[in-house]
Amino acid sequence: MNGATPSRAPTTYDEVPYATHANVRSHPDRLATIATLLGLTPAPVTRCRVLELGCGTGDNLIPMAASLPASTFIGCDLARDPIATGRAFASKLGLSNLTLIEGDLRALPESLGAFDYVIAHGVYSWVPADVRDGMLAVIADRLAPNGVGFVSYNVYPGCYERRMAWEMLRFHVDGITDPLQRIAEARALIRLIGDPANREQPNTAGLRYEFNELAKRSDGSLYHDDLSPVNDPVWFHEFVAHAQSHGLQYLGEAEFPMMADTDVAPSVRTALSGMDRLAREQYLDFARGRRFRQTLLCHGNLAPDRSLVPERLVGLHALAPKLTSEKGPIFPAPSAPRDDAAPAEPGDDQLADARGVLNDITAAWPQPIAVLKLAERFRAQWKEADGDARVPRRLAEILVGLYGAAVIELHANAPAIALEAAERPDIGALVRAQLAEGSRVTNLWHETMVVDDASARQLAALLDGTRDRADLLAALGPSFGAEDERTAAEVLEHYLRQFVRLGFLGSPGAS
Ligand SMILES: C[S@@+](CC[C@H](N)C(=O)[O-])C[C@H]1O[C@@H](n2cnc3c(N)ncnc32)[C@H](O)[C@@H]1O
Repeated sequence: MNGATPSRAPTTYDEVPYATHANVRSHPDRLATIATLLGLTPAPVTRCRVLELGCGTGDNLIPMAASLPASTFIGCDLARDPIATGRAFASKLGLSNLTLIEGDLRALPESLGAFDYVIAHGVYSWVPADVRDGMLAVIADRLAPNGVGFVSYNVYPGCYERRMAWEMLRFHVDGITDPLQRIAEARALIRLIGDPANREQPNTAGLRYEFNELAKRSDGSLYHDDLSPVNDPVWFHEFVAHAQSHGLQYLGEAEFPMMADTDVAPSVRTALSGMDRLAREQYLDFARGRRFRQTLLCHGNLAPDRSLVPERLVGLHALAPKLTSEKGPIFPAPSAPRDDAAPAEPGDDQLADARGVLNDITAAWPQPIAVLKLAERFRAQWKEADGDARVPRRLAEILVGLYGAAVIELHANAPAIALEAAERPDIGALVRAQLAEGSRVTNLWHETMVVDDASARQLAALLDGTRDRADLLAALGPSFGAEDERTAAEVLEHYLRQFVRLGFLGSPGAS
């Protein structure tokens, strides 16, 4: 599990820990889904090779490795302590498909070979120009011919406002070397400038917003992201030119809805419609005041295209997302069954077919539904469907439209999600181990969630596949659910249902 470990001086990431979490947008499933929609043929997610540059503690890779046992994951980071922490956690889980290497990303051993997916999250903007350049060189060098790279980075114009705040903070802590004192002094300035008693001027709204945002940061994020001596945003066009200088090209964004333009004014949409895709992306950043990008790259010799090709959706799955509010998760309401006996004519209601598709997707939730299955139902409902096409064009338009509007998710890989809790539920060793260390957990979709509720935590620790309901109630003891009006058995079912709905329980028999 361990890579070569040369001894080196501690880095700032050894001095002040940085919390790395699972980032769903960097998951190979997301990269494969978007690459497929754009006409590439990425490697299957269940059998692929993934490299993460600047992986920190490996907490993005570890859940991937746990849920995709036939895929291989390699992470590399310059900092010693985060790598040691990640190795200890991975070995607790017995992961044999993950290697964490302590070292410079520019000096990875040749023997590692090529990778189907290369991830660099939160690194590009925070390293000196030579490392940044080395990072793109590594991606170009190590990416398999059909591989997909993921690079996140700070961008202008949004980062000019952030930069105002960063420069004030750096001025204030200049000369302070002790990390804890730097953080404390930064917080003192954040309180002063963010004080609501400061009289509002026409030009201070943005500044106040930035300082209010800074006040919410963890120590690690404030120290490494905001006080970092190297923090260099770029314009999108500069990033693309940099990637091109390494033989890479812009593929798309890991947040698919950001590639759509439904959030900008109709006049902007009209103006952008005549532009090539790179210029369009740049002007979208202007219109949105964009601050951060999570960009996908591929080799320059490939020919991705944005036209809608229904056949590309053949292997995908659709999922209704969990919606969340400040009060907690809101789940999709059960949909009314469709009246298949009396189909409406498509022309009767332009939205009827989209509603029908959405109903089918929602009815399957929390499980995903295969696009081919939707196609079967779509054909039965709407007799017109495109002759022999495996995915009717109208269905493809609806699905890609709903995905671009963030109404549904599309997935190249569908984990086996339970519809209800098994007789002896198993939440998985990863979640049990994550809860033993803190409150952030990763579900089967690679989403990070916070589980603070004491009863949920107590129950999750017991869900190892050995206990049935009676065993669970006995182990939970009389205090479980005592403050609830329902019986302990009802409270237990409530929590189990929540774990199912939040994507924490796999279907029985699935590894
Ligand atoms: C802001 S952290 C991001 C960590 C992780 N990717 C995440 O998103 O939580 C940047 C990481 O890049 C690592 N790093 C900086 N320079 C590096 C280099 N030359 N080679 C490898 N890792 C490097 C740092 O040690 C740090 O862990």
